[in-house]
Amino acid sequence: MLVAHITDIHVGREEDYRSPEEVEWIARVRKHSIEILKRLLEDLAAHAPDHVVVTGDLTQSSLREEFRESARLLRQCLGDLPMTVLPGNHDRWRAEAVEEGFFEESFGPWLRSDLPSDGFPICHLADGVAIVALDSSPFVPGLPPAEVCGEVSEAQLGRLREWARLPELADRFLVVALHHHLRLSEVDSRAADPKDPTPLVNAARVEEVLGEIPVDLVLHGHRHRQMRLDLDLGGKTVPVLCPGSGSRADPRSERAAKYGLYRIEDGRLAEVRFRVWNPFAEAVEDYHP
Ligand SMILES: [Fe+2]
Ligand SMILES: [Fe+2]
Repeated sequence: MLVAHITDIHVGREEDYRSPEEVEWIARVRKHSIEILKRLLEDLAAHAPDHVVVTGDLTQSSLREEFRESARLLRQCLGDLPMTVLPGNHDRWRAEAVEEGFFEESFGPWLRSDLPSDGFPICHLADGVAIVALDSSPFVPGLPPAEVCGEVSEAQLGRLREWARLPELADRFLVVALHHHLRLSEVDSRAADPKDPTPLVNAARVEEVLGEIPVDLVLHGHRHRQMRLDLDLGGKTVPVLCPGSGSRADPRSERAAKYGLYRIEDGRLAEVRFRVWNPFAEAVEDYHP
């Protein structure tokens, strides 16, 4: 079973940010490239994964066109590959996006859960693997979006614990996916300015619940850098993986666009690979940090 993981693709167009109030978004749009994203998605599809996980921030600022375009690109490049999609904080940037359900409108077919659920979490059951997607990106009316921290609700954590006891999950390798990181990487935590204004406020509680269930792998986004932590969760060492942004246009390999390929065999994580865009070779290649 091969799982591909891409995140923080931040699809956006400069022409949507021409008003004086929103002009600072143009610099953010320019940090990402649709062309690079397409090359990564094509490379990803060529590896024929069994399942794709997209861990949020599919848009710049929750514009309806950004949702539609990101869904269109995923469909165009990945066809009918089974996919799990969850929202990031940038997908909850505008009240109208939440009230009118832009995320659900664009990604609806991928939001159907194999276990009964009303919204998140959602569960996708595959050959020997269960993927549970959590929503860690609340919308808080009246609070500037840039100040809204990540949080996984107790209701979602309760459902995750219930599901973990079900026979459908008993013999499956359990992957839990969310947008926000549980902890910073060692490199990021040593940085003078880790640029982390919106962390997961109940990360310790999420780790506590993960320690109570037989989780085998945690996937996340939000950090635009590749990282891997091996956390002790309930006495078990669990890999926590983030590939970094899947569309970042930056010549530095540690910042360049990436995605992950994770091979799961006989109930264990047999291989972890990251693929990176090399702007000098104009090609996607293996990443060796
Ligand atoms: Fe992001
Ligand atoms: Fe984010």
